[in-house]
Amino acid sequence: MEQFNRNITGLTPSASIEFMAKAKALQAQGLDVINLAGGEPDFDTPAPIIEEACRQMRAGFTHYTVGQGLPELRARIARKLLEENAAPYDADEIIVTPGGKNAIYLAISTLLNPGDEVLYLDPAWVSYVPMIEAAGGKAVPVVLRYEKGYRIESAALEAAVTERTKLLIVNYPNNPTGKVLTRPEAKILEQFLLRHKDVILLSDEIYERIVFDGNTTVSPASFPAIRDRVITVNGFSKSVAMTGWRLGYLAAPRPIARQTYKLYQHSITCVSGFIQKAAVVALDCAAEIEAMRASYAHRRELFFAALNAIDGVEAMAPEGAFYAWVRIEKGDMDSFALCNYLLEEAMVVGVPGESYGSGGAKCVRFSFATALEDLLEAARRMKTALDKL
Ligand SMILES: Cc1ncc(COP(=O)(O)O)c(C=O)c1O
Repeated sequence: MEQFNRNITGLTPSASIEFMAKAKALQAQGLDVINLAGGEPDFDTPAPIIEEACRQMRAGFTHYTVGQGLPELRARIARKLLEENAAPYDADEIIVTPGGKNAIYLAISTLLNPGDEVLYLDPAWVSYVPMIEAAGGKAVPVVLRYEKGYRIESAALEAAVTERTKLLIVNYPNNPTGKVLTRPEAKILEQFLLRHKDVILLSDEIYERIVFDGNTTVSPASFPAIRDRVITVNGFSKSVAMTGWRLGYLAAPRPIARQTYKLYQHSITCVSGFIQKAAVVALDCAAEIEAMRASYAHRRELFFAALNAIDGVEAMAPEGAFYAWVRIEKGDMDSFALCNYLLEEAMVVGVPGESYGSGGAKCVRFSFATALEDLLEAARRMKTALDKL
């Protein structure tokens, strides 16, 4: 008998977590490493959220909660989705999860049977493929091209779809490219779903509140013709600097939510009650969210100017999220070799573009949710290192 589930033994570890660990290990040795590998806001969680969590803890709100999430939180999320995203979901179609990551995992695990195919847009966040494979599915990349600005094209989706395609996963604003979902591209997704009636769309909108230059990103669930086949995932980690609280949610058409909730009951039980209470406050922290967004916008401006001043480096300003997706044309190095070179020569840590798929060739992802002086120092060091090549 095999000792382990082969869906799990076949998984590769998360590249971004590995590079973050590498950076932490070097920092622990006392080396002056600038870690731009992570994906987390450097702000503290806004005070009103912390105060509410403490208040609820003191009030004894520390026991199991029953159901898909506290009714007042699910009602507030439903209002947010309607008002901010034009995405109509009822409160009973919402499940509050420990992080957006878990929401995606639950949805994928609920939907897939062995051999079912899942389309995802490449470059893609590092966890979709392992989650699909852990559930016994087959991950099928739809490779978007740097040269075409990573825009979605109908022909690429059509070339990848088969009668086994169960799910299509999209993520906007995108990690790692920083693209938002424009209305014409959202229309392409809508038309694709209308042509392929069995396909479900999972829209990961975790960076939704972090957009620049007046850009907005479209929620596919706002299209009435497909709403009944769209799962929307969002959370609190990125928008309100709550990564460590582990709090997210999915909104899914009722039949999908009902099945997903069964897996939730048997694997999670609930998200801490005092955290859910604090989440209600977080959804009203518009001013705090805007202050963080404005700060990212300022850093983006200066960091990108410094990066683009380096010979052989091209950094497209992202429309959303907080990543610099940088193309480096230097010699024959692939993105893993480039990242190792930058780590050794410049003590700057980024994540190799190819860990996001073949669409990430020659690219490196750097987070700019980091202090401005570190970003500028990182760009200076990278210039010195890259000019040697
Ligand atoms: C694209 C994307 N989706 C989902 C997540 C999950 O975030 P969390 O589980 O912290 O809500 C992340 C985190 O890095 C992400 O980058």
